[in-house]
Amino acid sequence: MKNKILVTGGAGYIGSHTCIALHEAGYDIVVYDNLSNSSREAIERVSKLIDQPIDFVKGDIRDTDLLKQVFAEHQFFGVIHFAGLKAVGESVAKPLLYYNNNVSGTIALLEVMREADVKNLVFSSSATVYGDPESLPINEESKRSCTNPYGQSKLMVEHILEDLAATDDGWNLIPLRYFNPVGAHPSGQIGEDPNDIPNNLMPYISQVAVGKLEKLSIFGNDYSTVDGTGVRDFIHVTDLAQGHVAALNYLQKQVGRDKYSSIGFLPINLGTGKGTSVLELVTAFSEVSGQNIPYQFSARRAGDIASCYASADKAKDLLGWEATLSITEMCQDTWRWQSKNPNGYHSA
Ligand code: NAD
Ligand code: UD1
Repeated sequence: MKNKILVTGGAGYIGSHTCIALHEAGYDIVVYDNLSNSSREAIERVSKLIDQPIDFVKGDIRDTDLLKQVFAEHQFFGVIHFAGLKAVGESVAKPLLYYNNNVSGTIALLEVMREADVKNLVFSSSATVYGDPESLPINEESKRSCTNPYGQSKLMVEHILEDLAATDDGWNLIPLRYFNPVGAHPSGQIGEDPNDIPNNLMPYISQVAVGKLEKLSIFGNDYSTVDGTGVRDFIHVTDLAQGHVAALNYLQKQVGRDKYSSIGFLPINLGTGKGTSVLELVTAFSEVSGQNIPYQFSARRAGDIASCYASADKAKDLLGWEATLSITEMCQDTWRWQSKNPNGYHSA
């Protein structure tokens, strides 16, 4: 069985952690990333952690000539496609950038894959495709809808993958719908490194804890939740990384069993199934780090929902995967990364 995997966006936050998990599981990897939201230092550090050089190509997924070259040089079993832009606010300001990068970029990748007859794909989708859920926990059959260009770009790609699967042309396409990835590698060597002031909660909290930001604004304390603040399904990034290995192992098993029947389009949630409120996360982080985390309540953020957590049953039943790490471990590992690298990869 071929075990070489192309990892687009492999220098990024989730990609870098997944590269380690893939290596540990015996997969060979080639990382393809334009470094638009990541740095070479991440690749260097992954390489040190696995004690092996990384086969890295600096390139854009929209550069089909370069992609074709890479596919010609390697015999891939499949692709894990992380490459994409992910900031909701920026996507509202620059919709064309997001549709071009995330949607056109994915189409370019799929065309090259088809030409190379590599039809196994794991795609980074998001719980954002569920919009404001009608019921909780959210399972994979829940209605999908999005309100911002980032979310739309994920949903559009899902529709493209569904249409592709419907051609019955041997495609095996697994969109993994991540809930809220947080945490860092236990070594403290790699983690989330936002370019600017963080939009997401965990990196904001950790930058307050380390003294880079003054105080956290909690967006809304009047939701109908346990304490009035938003509730999310935070999942440790190393658990998430293992979810990708489980999805690939599943593909290997299915494709190996009967190479003439494809699995088509198979969306799977990657979450813990547990909701944690913003205030609960702040309290846990403060306890773990021993740092005071000043906060104030402010208005709700446009587009936010009250609560969002996964039904994690499908991942467990099909992939044999479930998240194992607790909120305490998510905070511990985030804090280790943040305190060792107050300026992210620029701390080096
Ligand atoms: P990230 O920004 O850290 O990683 C994405 C990587 O893709 C970066 O290294 C970036 O340089 C690269 N990239 C972007 N556009 C590219 C292009 N055109 N060609 C080549 N490389 C390109 O983000 P992440 O948090 O690791 O997220 C990975 C994927 O998961 C993204 O698609 C994101 O939308 C999705 N996702 C992330 C979250 C989250 O909370 N982090 C949640 C749900 C889904
Ligand atoms: C956000 C995006 C979502 C994207 C996901 C991962 C929005 C509306 N949603 O999800 O599309 O897939 O990130 O990138 O942007 N919070 C604060 N103060 C802060 C930051 C966040 O109180 O400074 C609160 C939010 O109101 C929310 C919770 O923390 O209740 C989690 O926020 P965040 O980490 O941004 O994730 P999501 O909103 O779930």
